[in-house]
Amino acid sequence: MTYSSFYNRSMEQPEAFWREQAEDIDWFKKPAAVLSKDENNLYRWYEGGQLNTAHLALDYHVENGRGDQPAIYYDSPVTDTKQAISYRELRDQVALFAGVLKAKGVQKGDTVIIYMPMIPQTVIAMLACARLGAVHSVVFGGFAAHELAIRIDDAKPKLLLTASAGKEINRIIDYMKIVNPALEEANHQIDGCIVYQRDILQAPLQEGRDFDWEGLLAEASPADCVSVEATDPLYILYTSGTTGKPKGIVRDNGGHAVAMKFSMKYVYGVEPGEVYWAASDVGWVVGHSYIVYAPLIHGCTTVLYEGKPVRTPDAGAFWRVLEAYKVSVFFTAPTAFRAIKKEDNEAKLKAKYDTSSLRYLFLAGERCDVSTLEWCQDVLQVPVIDHWWQTESGWPMLANMVGVELLPVKPGSAGKPVCGYDLKVVAPNGEPLPPNTEGAVVIRLPLAPGTLPNLWQDTARFISSYLSPYPGYYFTGDGGYIDEDGYVFITGRIDDIINVAGHRLSTAEMEEVVAAHPAVAECAVIGVHDELKGQIPVGFVVLKAGTSITEAELEKELIQMVREQVGPVAAFKKANVVQRLPKTRSGKILRRIMRHIVDGKPYNPPSTIEDMSVLPELEEQVKGMEK
Ligand code: COA
Ligand code: AMP
Repeated sequence: MTYSSFYNRSMEQPEAFWREQAEDIDWFKKPAAVLSKDENNLYRWYEGGQLNTAHLALDYHVENGRGDQPAIYYDSPVTDTKQAISYRELRDQVALFAGVLKAKGVQKGDTVIIYMPMIPQTVIAMLACARLGAVHSVVFGGFAAHELAIRIDDAKPKLLLTASAGKEINRIIDYMKIVNPALEEANHQIDGCIVYQRDILQAPLQEGRDFDWEGLLAEASPADCVSVEATDPLYILYTSGTTGKPKGIVRDNGGHAVAMKFSMKYVYGVEPGEVYWAASDVGWVVGHSYIVYAPLIHGCTTVLYEGKPVRTPDAGAFWRVLEAYKVSVFFTAPTAFRAIKKEDNEAKLKAKYDTSSLRYLFLAGERCDVSTLEWCQDVLQVPVIDHWWQTESGWPMLANMVGVELLPVKPGSAGKPVCGYDLKVVAPNGEPLPPNTEGAVVIRLPLAPGTLPNLWQDTARFISSYLSPYPGYYFTGDGGYIDEDGYVFITGRIDDIINVAGHRLSTAEMEEVVAAHPAVAECAVIGVHDELKGQIPVGFVVLKAGTSITEAELEKELIQMVREQVGPVAAFKKANVVQRLPKTRSGKILRRIMRHIVDGKPYNPPSTIEDMSVLPELEEQVKGMEK
């Protein structure tokens, strides 16, 4: 089978193609339809099908001879812990914790927020929700209380599941110091909070609100899998949009399960029984799809790594894990390798480890610079595959489908469209552009199974953000071009979303915080190029007349405010005072031009600019700023 014949079939006969792929899943009831439309006229996959995602990830494997195979290798250099959990053990623990949730009143369709670190209990919590047909929403641990509160108010969870602490290298993060203010700030009232106490820190529990995880388990009885509709939601994952309010990306059960299985086989080229490692965090989509759901649905062993690429304890950490668990396929963000390269450019630490089990390295989450890709190729001596996707898609849209045919790697390109994605690069009027011409990256509808069917209780925003900009297409928010061989090059976001160390963040959210400082008249936060993290946010502020604060004091206060309200993960470390910001006559800040000025790239000012003289003024100021 060649990539082009397989891909073309998915384009020419999508329903037959995806009906066949659905055969790989153990449905409770096979779907009546493959593709249909819902009451909002939006596409849905596998309507009428019934299944349970936790059954596919656990029970199915135990019943089919994988009970003793490790499901999870938990490796935590920050707490010096290693643990192998078999499929049978994991199924039993998930069933018991589902019993805990059930006893607390959680039922099919209820929402549950999970704010937890990279520990097995987080995976157990996600799968326990899936077992009951409840909808989980995992919030990344690097977000601050305010961000957690926004998500609580939007998802309206019955329960909040958390742990006493996380650990960042050697810094203990006291989770209750984030959970308590978030619950105070949120308008929505939860029924209760279940806290997993870690040895590194005991959390004081609030009488009546908080419950001890282990204590509840001791009294629980296991709960069975609940049959859900293919179109029922499995989870909500909030991701940064172009406003201060994050978008609640919805994932369904049926399309997701099919896509997870399909991608393991054909995109990542991994076999059931092999070890698959995605070094990310369960709080991001990479963690949902490729730490938890896909490896388990496919019958692989997943590695749950609670550490960093460097400093836990050194830049040899990844090589150690690859060797220890005989990882076959590895996935992380390029920034992780830039961090390793910075500390151990010659990869001397690699010599201590045997990584010969590895077949492929996959990179995604941000643009992969050619030098990092080549460095990884040299060091690991395996194909290094840059591939592209988003929280919205849930799985790759561009890749080199190595499970079908390994195509030649073109550094700088994220590969070719994955089956099911009819990708085009278009001009502002929606017309497809000729090869090598940059434009907006869009996907013709319907999107493949597993992609977002809607936003959580916000169809209007779903349509206006993704479907209205280019009728008939899904708008990805990215720019790029397609070369004469059909390889796609993603050049970056064309909106105000930035990517900091593979973490997707909204500059609008940071601007809201900066603008609230009493000395700030107006501001812009833009993403500028950074050697290590790809991009970092930088604030440009215009002071209110008569303010006496120094630039250094202001910067310190703004850094603290963003850290407290958005979270440390925003990595907001720079703020500059400027005289004026470039704007259009209608008052829109020209952030793209600012980005080009800061990165020293050429730009064309639009004819709608309010005052052209602000540009040379800003260029002069930027020159004077420390890079
Ligand atoms: N809980 C609490 N704080 C967190 C956190 C979490 N789960 N994750 C990150 N943070 C904090 C960090 O401690 C850091 O705080 P600091 O400013 O006090 O140092 C801040 O948020 C920024 O974190 P990070 O982006 O991880 O930067 P770093 O300098 O600590 O590490 C890398 C840089 C490149 C090593 C790191 O970003 C990395 O491993 N990236 C891998 C990419 C990845 O996982 N991407 C996810 C999508 S694939
Ligand atoms: P997230 O939703 O957090 O997965 O972030 C998705 C965004 O990250 C995309 O819209 C892109 O801007 C960027 N991105 C992800 N993978 C790549 C890649 N391989 N190359 C370039 N950009 C990428």
